[in-house]
Amino acid sequence: MQSIFVFDAFGTLFDVHSATRAHAAALGPDAQRLSDAWRAKQLEYTWIYAGIGGTARVPDFRTITEQSLTYALAVTGLAASLAPQLLESYRALAAFLEVPDSLKFARARGARLAILSNADPDMLDELVAHAGIGGLFDHLLSVRGAGTYKPAPAVYRLATDAFGCLPSDINFVSANRWDCAGAKAFGFKTLWVNRAGAPAEYGDLAADRVVENLCDGALQ
Ligand code: LAC
Repeated sequence: MQSIFVFDAFGTLFDVHSATRAHAAALGPDAQRLSDAWRAKQLEYTWIYAGIGGTARVPDFRTITEQSLTYALAVTGLAASLAPQLLESYRALAAFLEVPDSLKFARARGARLAILSNADPDMLDELVAHAGIGGLFDHLLSVRGAGTYKPAPAVYRLATDAFGCLPSDINFVSANRWDCAGAKAFGFKTLWVNRAGAPAEYGDLAADRVVENLCDGALQ
C-alpha cells in the first residue's frame, strides 16, 4: 500500500510568524510578542469551542483569527488599526523553505498527501496556491467538515474517511505537539516536527518519530 502523509498546516507547512514579520517595521520591538500572543489566543479559542461542543456555536477560523488578533494587539498595546494589514498577510503565509521539495520528494516516491487543518476551506486553498504546492495534495481537509476543531476525534476522522483507510495507515505530521497527541489518541502514526526544539511532553501519547524539520527524507 502507498504511504499516506497527512499534514497539519500552521506551524508545520506554513510559518505563522511570517505575517508579523511582513510588518516588522510598523510593529517595532513587540512584533514577536504580538505574533506569539496571536497564535496562543487563536489556539485557545479553538480548544475552548471544541470543548464547549455544539456545532451551531463554533465560529469559523477566519473569525477566530480576527478575534485573537484583536486581543493580541490590545494585550501588547499595539494599534488596532494594524489589524487589516496583518490579516491580509495571514492569507499569504510563507511556507517553510524545505516544504515544497520535501512534498515533491514524498510524492515522487508514490506517497499520497493531504492537509488536515483548522483553517477554513478557502483559507487552505489560498495558502497552498500562494505557496505553489496545491497540486501535490490528494485532499485539502478543513475541520469545517466536522463542525469542530482539533483535537476532537471527529476532525481526525475526516482523514480516514477521505482516504478510506484505517487510522494506523496514516502518518500524521505536525509541529504542534498537542496536535500529534490528539492524532495519536485517534490511532494515527505521528511524526512530530519539533521546529522549535521544544521539550518532550505527552509521554502517554508519544510521537512515533521526531524530526527537526521536513528535510533529509523525513517523509520516508
Ligand atoms: C492547524 C493548526 C492546528 O493547521 O496548526 O490545524
